[in-house]
Amino acid sequence: MNLLVIGSGGREHALCWKLKQSNLCEKLYCIPGNAGISAEAECFNINISDFRALIDFTEAKSIDLTVAGPETPLADGIVDYFQLRGKKIFGPSEAAARIESDKAFAKQLMLDTDIPSAGFEIHECYESAGASPLLHKFPVVIKASGLAAGKGVIIAKNRIEAEETISDMFIAKKFGSAGSKVVIEEFLRGEEFSLFALTDGTDYILFPPSQDHKRLGDKDTGPNTGGMGAYAPAPIADSVMLKKCEDRIIKPLLVEMKKRDTPYQGLLYCGLIEVKGEPYVLEFNCRFGDPETQCVLPLVKADLVRMFLSSLEEGGIKRFLNEHLQESLFYDGKYAVCVVAASGGYPEKYEKGFSITGLDREYTDTVIFHAGTACKGVNIVTAGGRVLGVTGIGDSFIKALDNAYHALSQIEFEGIYYRNDIGWRALRR
Ligand SMILES: Nc1ncnc2c1ncn2[C@@H]1O[C@H](COP(=O)(O)OP(=O)(O)O)[C@@H](O)[C@H]1O
Ligand SMILES: [Mg+2]
Repeated sequence: MNLLVIGSGGREHALCWKLKQSNLCEKLYCIPGNAGISAEAECFNINISDFRALIDFTEAKSIDLTVAGPETPLADGIVDYFQLRGKKIFGPSEAAARIESDKAFAKQLMLDTDIPSAGFEIHECYESAGASPLLHKFPVVIKASGLAAGKGVIIAKNRIEAEETISDMFIAKKFGSAGSKVVIEEFLRGEEFSLFALTDGTDYILFPPSQDHKRLGDKDTGPNTGGMGAYAPAPIADSVMLKKCEDRIIKPLLVEMKKRDTPYQGLLYCGLIEVKGEPYVLEFNCRFGDPETQCVLPLVKADLVRMFLSSLEEGGIKRFLNEHLQESLFYDGKYAVCVVAASGGYPEKYEKGFSITGLDREYTDTVIFHAGTACKGVNIVTAGGRVLGVTGIGDSFIKALDNAYHALSQIEFEGIYYRNDIGWRALRR
């Protein structure tokens, strides 16, 4: 098969790396890709929101399966657009992708199906939001309902911050149309983790649970980022917890989506928080998470192309599982830790174009995924805030951690910054 991956981050590099291991994969393409991806896939620079141009590309290159990495094309209906034109594409329809692209929709769905999540209200104007009774207890969580590239959630510590946020959203329109609907939520205190399920709309396969590190600084201090590192499997999600997540969250969600005639096919990302031993949903995403994917996919033993294909048709996951009864789909007893190396100054202002050294050394049990990198002559240079995701793999969590940090100690670029405590919660356990 000829495969196409859409996107340019560490997640897409991990997808390309894993898809390429499949014996079904004949030729791999990526749009637009990055310097690291270009070692795995032939990269082309096409605007990923130009669906017509993407279809033309799939025809020119006889693409058999397309995988869209980021949420924006999914929320804009790339899957419907491709399917209408007879093209195979992995991911949810526009209607199903609303679980991510419309937080108010997702919250209402959870309420309707008794999926545990924080108490909330939905507001469509400044006056009603300002009068919300939820603004009497702090901290309180205020979310722009639409897609906001991970910047649309504010945790307000007091009344003044809450009012400022509501005004930013409705009056200053800081988040554009994403902020025209606002979700106000009770603040939940607990430990967060991420759970991916691959589904055909009925059955599903759980990936090993993972844990991201959103804050910039060690010990979870400083501003929020796109994610500074992740590891899997995360011990917080033991088998008892996973069972609760399946029964109370994943199964009811899939049943409800099917009932509404918008079955959810593709990758379902559950952003969860454990409160007093019970799982609550913070959000759903309609695609693989980043950087979690960079530590989850190295633990996949099965053929990812076949897994993706099985999600495209009703009954596909069941068939896939029946064909693999004797094999484990994941490497048992293996751990993976991904540490993100970022540009100095990220997530605020940072410079680009610095040469990266140490990438071509041999590192045992380590995969270096590229995010913001570009080729400049013979050099690979920094080209974004999050530059690399260095994933160490090992038979123990410590070994995986050591492998990642050992490789990182050999990699350099001007202003390189990474957290030194990725996995501290797992270590504490
Ligand atoms: N109800 C809540 N209680 C406590 N923290 C929350 C709550 N909702 C969100 N958060 C925090 O805000 C972060 C971002 O929220 P999320 O809904 O995942 O939005 P997004 O990832 O789209 O920015 C979460 O990872 C979590 O740390
Ligand atoms: Mg999130």
